[in-house]
Amino acid sequence: MEKIDLNGKTLLVTGAAGFIGSNLVKRLFKDVNGATIVGIDNLNDYYDVALKEYRLRELETISSGHPSNSWTFVKGDIADKSVIGNLFAEYKFSVVVNLAAQAGVRYSITNPDAYIQSNLIGFYNILEACRHNPVEHLVYASSSSVYGGNKKVPFSTDDRVDNPVSLYAATKKSNELMAHCYSKLYDIPTTGLRFFTVYGPAGRPDMAYFGFTNKLLKGETIQIFNYGNCRRDFTYVDDIVEGVVRVMQGAPERKQGEDGLPIPPYAVYNIGGGQPESLLDFVQILQEELVRAGVLPSDFDFDAHKQLVPMQPGDVPTTYADAAALERDYGFTPRIPLRDGLRAFAEWYREFYM
Ligand SMILES: NC(=O)c1ccc[n+]([C@@H]2O[C@H](COP(=O)([O-])OP(=O)(O)OC[C@H]3O[C@@H](n4cnc5c(N)ncnc54)[C@H](O)[C@@H]3O)[C@@H](O)[C@H]2O)c1
Repeated sequence: MEKIDLNGKTLLVTGAAGFIGSNLVKRLFKDVNGATIVGIDNLNDYYDVALKEYRLRELETISSGHPSNSWTFVKGDIADKSVIGNLFAEYKFSVVVNLAAQAGVRYSITNPDAYIQSNLIGFYNILEACRHNPVEHLVYASSSSVYGGNKKVPFSTDDRVDNPVSLYAATKKSNELMAHCYSKLYDIPTTGLRFFTVYGPAGRPDMAYFGFTNKLLKGETIQIFNYGNCRRDFTYVDDIVEGVVRVMQGAPERKQGEDGLPIPPYAVYNIGGGQPESLLDFVQILQEELVRAGVLPSDFDFDAHKQLVPMQPGDVPTTYADAAALERDYGFTPRIPLRDGLRAFAEWYREFYM
């Protein structure tokens, strides 16, 4: 592994106004010195743009408290080749973290174009830019969804992932294949990170914990898929950011094979805690924390607002990370308990919306 000291480096975070991206930039402000940090995001309206603008305002405030790093935000689309080409030519990034993507499994059924644009063309532009403006490390978001309906648990990066059940998953798997090819052909160190159901304050409103909260507050009924027989390896956003920051600093080594050609400096890791929770237990903890935070009254009739429904197309019954490789190579396994994470979400929700 090649060690990278992030101090004084020029760093790019794509999807910087997004949930994970904004948390990563915040963390970089605090931990890194003398860096030039650039964020790009197209601020699309897949979900409430006000939330993305709120995250960017927070970044402006926090960056002014850490003046040793410079912060530049660019409103732009990674699917626009000239935007990305010019940005890389101007800054000559050392480390790039690609988090910009069209996320969401269900939306990919009705809006496939968005996934091809952002996740395939956008990622291709990032790879090409890294080829023409060499970087020390490209880190990019993959997803636990690449495991599809994998029956073997926990999910290991050694498992076959050739059976995606959504276009979203297919684009994330494609990213890993494209990265492998660029690592091999152009000796670019790349690391793909398969994130497992990330949640936390100012998260994504399209995800269950956030959507459930919005609905319950309006007195609407929430739908629990697969009759609650789902398990998810929920990962608190601070744990994801910790994993990303560690991985940014350790790039797969560049080595030559016997044929004189590069052995691809390529790696893929899971980031999940390896402690899947049943959907019904998760809903129970969420309810308790929403009441505790004062988002919902203590006499709220939860049972009257829950409906158990069948599995949805694109969904998978279980996600369960084998996180041993991340622990072995980076000394880290996500550890924040679901209750603590949902508590932080519920408290943020009350402050933000109520
Ligand atoms: N949140 C999760 O549970 C989860 C799980 C697995 C993988 N991921 C991946 O992690 C990454 C970050 O996810 P997130 O939860 O923060 O999602 P998010 O939607 O909050 O963040 C993505 C950001 O990228 C921006 N974006 C999308 N397309 C773009 C484009 N073409 N050009 C520029 N900006 C663009 C969006 O405006 C958004 O702000 C994504 O790649 C996602 O697929 C997330």
